[in-house]
Amino acid sequence: MTVRADPATVALRGDSAQKDAKPAVFDVLTCEATWPAGVRQARVADREVPAPANKIQRIVIIADTGCRMKASENAFQPCNDPVKWPFAKVAQSAAALKPDLVLHIGDIHYRESPCPQGNTGCADSLWGYGYDAWHADFFKPAGPLLAAAPWVFVRGNHESCFRAGQGWFRFFDTQVWREQRSCNDPNLDADADYSMPYAVPIAVDAQLIVFDSSKTNGKPFATTDSAYGKYLQQTKRVAELTKQKTNSFFMSHHPLLAVAPVKKQHQFKPGGNEGLQSVFGALYPQRLFPDGVTVAMHGHVHLFESISFKSDHPLSLVMGNSGSANEGLVPEVLPPGAQLYPGTEVEDYAARSDYGFATLDRLDATAGGGWMLTEYTVDGQAVIQCRIVGAKSRCQKL
Ligand SMILES: [Fe+2]
Repeated sequence: MTVRADPATVALRGDSAQKDAKPAVFDVLTCEATWPAGVRQARVADREVPAPANKIQRIVIIADTGCRMKASENAFQPCNDPVKWPFAKVAQSAAALKPDLVLHIGDIHYRESPCPQGNTGCADSLWGYGYDAWHADFFKPAGPLLAAAPWVFVRGNHESCFRAGQGWFRFFDTQVWREQRSCNDPNLDADADYSMPYAVPIAVDAQLIVFDSSKTNGKPFATTDSAYGKYLQQTKRVAELTKQKTNSFFMSHHPLLAVAPVKKQHQFKPGGNEGLQSVFGALYPQRLFPDGVTVAMHGHVHLFESISFKSDHPLSLVMGNSGSANEGLVPEVLPPGAQLYPGTEVEDYAARSDYGFATLDRLDATAGGGWMLTEYTVDGQAVIQCRIVGAKSRCQKL
């Protein structure tokens, strides 16, 4: 392997949103190698590295996994309680299903502030942007699932430069690590906060497209905003990539078509990201996505949602319920005529507010083709199943 990033203590950036901040200590060596085509087995020291499958049958999907410790919102999840922060159990249950591939759709790191004095729920939890917190929040609890299959990582807003971006570039980004794209220097964020999309083939007729939306906004972008230009470029690249396969599964941490969490289950509020909508909507006013995108998969909202449209929009899946504190409830049924975005008409809808994870199983031609999406509880009990063909899905509660 070659060295990706040497151990280092990175000076405090000084633009942290948190009052307590400290230099990020990365006391680990990061190495990398490209997996040679056809190689079936690899080992690092005494550890077997899971090989890419010849044929991908089962994909595990998780997002928003970390334990929230954030002083600016006075939000402290009980990281010491495996029921209130269940990511370790999620990883264990998901690994037991023997996936061929794992997708993490962003927001990996959540431990930004020290646990307050006297709070027993998170007492002694490691925090900050250095490796110790990354290990506690991700590498340790994810262990069984990391050993089960190769992973694809999507960058979330928690991995933007002024938050846990330094760890993102050391451990997860697919490009060569460079000081210019390390998030170490805030003056270089204008580049490092964005990445060009890439595709991962998963079947003869299907691919994933990985989109970095980490720095998007809750409000529409002005066309003069430099972020608007960056995202416009990224979206045009998505359109080019879609030409490679019949079905593209688009993955961005922030959803474009979603239902927001609410205080009471009968309430309804659209939850799509207005920053991304302003960019995608400029290029695709009707559909929001290029034609080849049949399914859009996201996290960010800490819920499970499957939304299939009568209108010509891709199936929208939100799967941000894998560990980080829930932020509210999702309506079980949508009010008649509920609009997620102008021109959308919902045909099939399933949602769940509890913690869990999902799998996507490829169905053979004999079974009619397409994919079966299954939503599971933390313990690995299947609770919702959605049959996906092209851009449409039909869900049922089990
Ligand atoms: Fe997020």
